[in-house]
Amino acid sequence: MTQQPEIRILNSPSELFQSAADEFARLANDAVTARGRFTVALSGGSTPKSMYSLLATRSDIPWKQIYFFFGDERHVPPDHPESNYRMAYAAMLSHAPQENVFRVHTEQPDANVAAVAYEETLRSFFRLQPGEFPRFDLTLLGLGPDGHTASLFPGSAALKENQRLVVANWIEKFNQYRITFTYPVLNNSACVMFLASGQEKAHPVHQILEGSEALPARHVHPTNGRLIWMLDRDAASALSDALRTS
Ligand code: 6PG
Repeated sequence: MTQQPEIRILNSPSELFQSAADEFARLANDAVTARGRFTVALSGGSTPKSMYSLLATRSDIPWKQIYFFFGDERHVPPDHPESNYRMAYAAMLSHAPQENVFRVHTEQPDANVAAVAYEETLRSFFRLQPGEFPRFDLTLLGLGPDGHTASLFPGSAALKENQRLVVANWIEKFNQYRITFTYPVLNNSACVMFLASGQEKAHPVHQILEGSEALPARHVHPTNGRLIWMLDRDAASALSDALRTS
């Protein structure tokens, strides 16, 4: 059943990243204790970078039992400045066993082929039957000022996809393909954690949590899992007092 979102508002970006890193460590250790592994889909962009750097310095992360995937990736080579994998590797993943890191093979010139290959990676790792979706222990997500999350952008074709696990989504404003998880994968997670920092996220945060705009991130809520919104004061600044003090 769909649970109410857990909203946590932290005083500053640094407290936000520290709190998110604490939650990550808690979830990882609980999953490893319970099931011997922790599967996580990482978010890209700039917000999570500081959190990843904090995780890299912690001694309480069961690196050997964590399996890292990417909720979305730009269709650029893995060493490109825009690559989410490159960002996450530099901030954290160099500390992980590399056999536990499953990046999108975006060196493949055809984005659709890269997306299909990543679907196969998920099917194989999670041993999925046809029609099944993977269930990540944690899916980390960011939020764009336009209300996109992963690479589910307003008006893009992937918003309507409910069969595929991963698709190549053409993003007109970037004149670029992005490879992204679809809503069924995101919403099959045991826990989704949004991380949003800064004033430019205040409007979409308000609209998604208590407004009416049908922004893409509004449609992310696990069908049977936790939804956590981790915000700093600026990103929460347009929320009603009722939500801010809940
Ligand atoms: C990406 C992300 C994307 C990101 C938002 C917010 O590939 O860029 O997955 O969904 O989370 O665009 O980006 P910032 O954290 O840089 O604001």
